[in-house]
This record gives sequence, structure tokens and C-alpha cells, in this order.
Amino acid sequence: MKNEQRYNDLVNLLEISRDLASTLDLNSLLNKIVQVAANITEAEAASILLYDHKKNELKFKAATNQEIDPKITEMVVPKDSIAGWAAQHQSSLFVPDVHKDPRFFDQVEKALDFPTRSIIAIPMITKGRLIGILEVLNKKHDSFTQYDLELLETLGAQAAVAIENSHLFEQSDAIADLVHELRTPLSSIKTITYLLNKPEIIPEDRQKLIDTIQNETNRLNYMVTNFLDLVRMETGRLSFEYSTFDFNSLVNECMLILLPLATQHKIKIIDQPESEQLIINADRSKIKQVILNLLNNAIKYNHPDGTITLQHEIKKDKLTFSITDSGVGIPEKEIPFIFNKFYRASSVENEIQGTGLGLSISRQIIENHQGSIGVKSQKDKGSTFFFELPIKKN
Ligand SMILES: Nc1ncnc2c1ncn2[C@@H]1O[C@H](COP(=O)(O)OP(=O)(O)O)[C@@H](O)[C@H]1O
Ligand SMILES: [Mg+2]
Repeated sequence: MKNEQRYNDLVNLLEISRDLASTLDLNSLLNKIVQVAANITEAEAASILLYDHKKNELKFKAATNQEIDPKITEMVVPKDSIAGWAAQHQSSLFVPDVHKDPRFFDQVEKALDFPTRSIIAIPMITKGRLIGILEVLNKKHDSFTQYDLELLETLGAQAAVAIENSHLFEQSDAIADLVHELRTPLSSIKTITYLLNKPEIIPEDRQKLIDTIQNETNRLNYMVTNFLDLVRMETGRLSFEYSTFDFNSLVNECMLILLPLATQHKIKIIDQPESEQLIINADRSKIKQVILNLLNNAIKYNHPDGTITLQHEIKKDKLTFSITDSGVGIPEKEIPFIFNKFYRASSVENEIQGTGLGLSISRQIIENHQGSIGVKSQKDKGSTFFFELPIKKN
């Protein structure tokens, strides 16, 4: 290999990486990366698999010269495949003859009718985090060399940063929402401090104003913390700690915590567990957060002298838990939105305090446990929120 050629390739890569860094739309970015990867290594094809940290799965997200077939995007690439190996070992892999390598995953070759001879697979890593795998297949008229592998590694490192940036960019919509929501409490605090400066304010009003500041700062704090947790969960950066525990006693614990609030609202909570113990394996403190959120809502959006009924039981290998309240209910049209970040039903928005984050966090937690959460509700009659969790003993 001539030095001049090496130099040209590197300059070329540098220009490409500038272009990648400024592409924020994930799909166009991935398509650019696979084109470039195929070009610089003179490969017949290239593809990208992205790694889902939450599910610990690798899936195809882009390939050259074609729209990715849904048959393939839904396929989870096995851990002992070539890509899976590169991901697990976080190191590159060059396989000159795939049909002699037991790791070769031929489902894709079959699905696409693309006879594969050789593969280079590169892990894309940034800040120690695996983003995905970049693969090139079959060198045109020749076989891949060590030099192709090095070029691809350089591209892979740039691509990892660009993909990470585009993920962050996608989140900036969520951040815009947060900033919007922070405005209201911030402006009320600002107004209050202005009023507190006025000498003519009587002590009684002064105290009320100070209480409101306290209340609003608590709400701000709650919103920011919960929002960050939510985004961390969405991007798989909040880890879950599984343990084995009795679900029924967790429910009791939550009832005790919320008993004062329920009493204050004159609401009776009736617990109907099916058995004495119900052992499950899950992240206890996160499931506790879900139960507290749902119970808190069932109290908040209830009428005085209302009731709340809890049911928990095992069906097959699933736990089902439901909370039924006799409260204000949710208008049918708004039901599809209530699990969205910051969404609050119009009927309660100005009546009852809240942030609209509790249900989105609860859904995220349950889905992280491979469970599901839902609601049945009728306006003015009441609501039933329920979730299902796989039991997964030990
Ligand atoms: N038990 C319930 N009864 C009636 N409406 C409910 C109930 N739980 C939730 N909601 C509706 O869903 C919205 C979102 O709930 P949530 O995410 O917990 O936020 P928050 O309670 O802070 O408003 C609430 O604002 C309310 O409109
Ligand atoms: Mg709530």
C-alpha cells in the first residue's frame, strides 16, 4: 500500500466524518455510514446493527442499496453470530470465509438472497458504550485486507459519535417539553419574590406566599428528577436491580405510606390479595414507585367518601395487579394520551396539582420488566389501572 493512498484515504475519511457529525436525522445518518463503509473498503454491501441496551439485543437498522426488509429488522441477531461476537467482545472481527465459520448467521443471507463470502465486523463504541456493529460483506474482485479493517475501524469510531449525537438530538424534543413545563412554576416563584419585597404585605399573606414558593420548588424538584429518570430509562441508562420479594407485602407497604393522604380525602382502600404471599422477581423499589403513582392518582382523582379496590393475583406465569377507583374517570378521547409525558386530562389540569409524569414513568418501568400497563375508564364513573408482570422466579 502506497503512503500516498493511505494519506488520501484518511483525508477522505476526515471529510466524511465532518459530514456525518452534521447529520442529525438517524435514518439518513445510518444510510450515509453504510454507503461510505462499502465505498472505502470496495465492498459489495454494508450494514449496520444497532444495540438496544434495554433489551440487550442487536438488530439490523440500515443496509446499502435497499430499504431494510421488515423480515430482517425484526430479527434479533444471535449472540454467537459474527456481529454478536464483535459486540460481546467489543473487538473487530475479520472472517475471510464465512461458510467455514460456525458463527455465521445465514438467516440474513437466505432472507436477502445475498451469497456472502467474507465479512468484516466492527463494534462502534463511544465513551465505553457499545452503539452497534458496522459490517462490510464481500470485497469486489478481491479479498479484504488488514488495511480495510483499519479503515473501517476509523470510520466506526466516527460513526459511533455521530449516532450518539443524533440520539441526543432526538431527545432534545423531550428537553424542549421539560423547559416549557418548568416555565409555569418558575414564573410564579418570580412573581412571588417580587411581591414579598413589598413592605405593605401583611404577615399572614407573606406566610402564604412563602408556602407557595416552597410548594412550587418541591414541584420543580420533583419534575426535574422524574424527568431525568424517565429519559435515562428510555435510553437504557438507568439500571434495574432485580431481587426476589413478596409482592403482597410491597402493596401493604405502599398502602401504609398513602394512608394519611387517603384519610385526608376520606377515601377507603380495600385490598383483595388472592393469597398470602406472591413471590416475584423484579426491581422492588421501581415497582414500588409504580404502585405509589397509581395509588396516589386513585386518591387524587377520587371523590370524598370514595373507594379504591386493589386486586393482585397470579395468572399462568404472570402477575396481574389492578387498582379500581370510584373517581372522576377519564374522557374517552383523552385515554390514548394519558401515558404521554406531561399529559394531564383537561378536566383536572387546573383543579388538581400534578406534573403529568407519573404514568409515563410507570409505563416505562413496567415495560422495562417486559410487562404491560393499561387503563379502563369511564368519565364520572371511575377508572381501573392495571399492570401485568412476568413472574420470572429467581
Ligand atoms: N385514577 C385516575 N382517575 C382519573 N384520571 C386519572 C387517574 N390517573 C391518572 N389520571 C389522568 O392522567 C393524567 C396523567 O397522570 P400522571 O401521569 O400520574 O400525572 P399527574 O397525576 O401528575 O397529573 C392525570 O393528569 C389525569 O388526568
Ligand atoms: Mg400522578
